[in-house]
Amino acid sequence: MTKNSIKQDATVYSIAQLGDKILHKIALPVENIQSPANQKLLQVMLATVKHAGGVGIAAPQIYQSKRLFIMCSKPSARYPNAPDMEPCVIINPEILHTSTKIEKDWEGCLSVANLRGLVPRFQQIKVSYVDINNNRQQKTFEGFLARIFQHELDHLNGLTFVDRVESQNDLMNEKQWRKEILGESIGN
Ligand code: NI
Repeated sequence: MTKNSIKQDATVYSIAQLGDKILHKIALPVENIQSPANQKLLQVMLATVKHAGGVGIAAPQIYQSKRLFIMCSKPSARYPNAPDMEPCVIINPEILHTSTKIEKDWEGCLSVANLRGLVPRFQQIKVSYVDINNNRQQKTFEGFLARIFQHELDHLNGLTFVDRVESQNDLMNEKQWRKEILGESIGN
């Protein structure tokens, strides 16, 4: 059986920013992930998220109203403590079950420049989604990966992490966050 994977493509697209209407719309279900247009979209999303050093990207972030995202956690300058994983394509996702436990941790977003937020998320989620081979999967994610899934799913429902913080005090600019939370010295 041949497994599909995302083909490499050098094209990097600009990323929608907070206030762009596409980020505040409910995205539409993907009908056929194997169509040429959707395969091209996956290539573009992967190139774009890698180029930007993100750990996930949702189709609305590159102006496509489709229920599709990529999780690609990897340690980086943006997320030094991120676990390492192969990019994972998530299509038409649903959350089937959530833990009662909720954790708050820092998030950023390629569509929310220069801002970090302390965001409450379910610690563990059981989910269902269609994979890149067009098979429906069930999986349980916890911790940082559960957080990425919930963050990206929010993008498909017109929300960003800024909508999820409990108070303005839980938002911090990137520079201050690097200094206070990551402990980097000023000037870096
Ligand atoms: Ni985001």
